[in-house]
Amino acid sequence: MIASRRTFLGLAGTAAATAVLAGCGGGSWFTGNGTGSQGALLASAVPLPEPFQVPLPIPPTIEPTNGTIELTARRSAVEILPGRTTEILGYEGIFPGPTIRASSGEELQVRLRNDTEIDTVLHLHGGRTPAEHDGYPTDLIVPGAERSYVYPLQQRAAPLWYHDHAMDFTGPNVYAGLAGMALLGSQEEGALGLPSGERDVPLVIADRSFDGDAAFAYPLADPSRGRPGVTMRYHGGVLGDCVLVNGAPWPVMEVDAARYRFRILNAANARRFDLTLDQGVTFTQVGTDGGLLERPAVRRVIAVAGAERADVVIDFSSVPVGTRVTMTNSLDAGGPGQVMQFHVVRKAASDDTRVPEQLSVIDALDPGAVSVTRDLHFALGATGSGHHGMADWNVNGVTFHDGDVFTAQRGTLERWRLSSDVHHPVHAHLLHYQVGAPGGDGLAWKDTIDLRPGGSAEVLVPIEGYAGRYVLHCHNLEHEDMMMMVNFSVV
Ligand code: C2O
Ligand code: CU
Repeated sequence: MIASRRTFLGLAGTAAATAVLAGCGGGSWFTGNGTGSQGALLASAVPLPEPFQVPLPIPPTIEPTNGTIELTARRSAVEILPGRTTEILGYEGIFPGPTIRASSGEELQVRLRNDTEIDTVLHLHGGRTPAEHDGYPTDLIVPGAERSYVYPLQQRAAPLWYHDHAMDFTGPNVYAGLAGMALLGSQEEGALGLPSGERDVPLVIADRSFDGDAAFAYPLADPSRGRPGVTMRYHGGVLGDCVLVNGAPWPVMEVDAARYRFRILNAANARRFDLTLDQGVTFTQVGTDGGLLERPAVRRVIAVAGAERADVVIDFSSVPVGTRVTMTNSLDAGGPGQVMQFHVVRKAASDDTRVPEQLSVIDALDPGAVSVTRDLHFALGATGSGHHGMADWNVNGVTFHDGDVFTAQRGTLERWRLSSDVHHPVHAHLLHYQVGAPGGDGLAWKDTIDLRPGGSAEVLVPIEGYAGRYVLHCHNLEHEDMMMMVNFSVV
């Protein structure tokens, strides 16, 4: 049944989407809008600061005590724009939330108290989690309530993150600040000699816009939240004009002339970043969403779509003291084209770190062992079928409310052929994709794959973990809230 519907939609869905988009007139839905991202730019109504003035904040680290971490989601007022206050919703009242440091293979319990006035759900993105603890979108924690999530963490060391996943309102909730990093370490990884301690730094990158009162501006279609979604202009995604790193606008970080490890997370709702450095400095990528690569890869550009992570080492040791190294987003210009700066302020007292030639071993899956091949098409549906008389985003023509798109058998290997109309970063809960490493040398594990307009990707997906119902969705959060999220079951 699904197969015939899929075949039909594979063609008809694409044609319909093209027609609707072309008819809209607002070319801003396409990446042809000059931002390199899908969506429309929301201009701030307050003057934004000069870039590279504010120091880079480092979110506090939080480690489990007796296997448990307690978090409270609450509203608070913080200074983001110098001299102004911005209300956020944050884990522990900060944005990003504290960086969780936990160990691969050791069960972690997170007790979340909801001191906000909205319903929330906690999802550990990239976690291999039993369904009842995975943050299924309708498993809401109502205001004033709390619940415990149990994460077995039977998975590789990796840079994960955690964020709100409330049904229909993930976009506004994450935009308000409900996101943080969760770094899983392991002994093997710790023994590699990569930069650590103060030279192992999370960089949570997200764009935001501010209204005239310096509050985060988000174009909810219905500010009372009676119905989900954003106003028509932002149907393709909300793009801010101010780039925040660890919650600060275009910050500057003072560094030693030494090696640093950066855990880069694109926590933006819709914006994509192609990160580059000047002064002849390059990135050495050591890991992706799903942990270490087999071998390091020197890269001039680190591309991260929404929810993607890149684990990189930047070596400032041969950069003259006093130099400023600027990280830009080469997809865009002006403010959104700037990200942050590193100011090399002193010679390193010592640096005995290294980037070994062999980082890890990833066993190649055998394509001959694939038992099921699935075609999953991410596209806009027919006009008039969804929000405000517009089309809904969907997967194979169906949405969250249409039941499971498929059932997968544990212990089997699947091939997914993903395709799209416009940009869609595709994320599955529970399952991880095996793909070629960025840069082409060896293999990598990912949980989010960025599909280009009209593009496609093939990934191998071992069905491992826990039986239950999970979601598969686009991580452009406006698309996700406007129905580009479907269910699948694992048995
Ligand atoms: Cu990062 Cu289903 O989410
Ligand atoms: Cu999408």
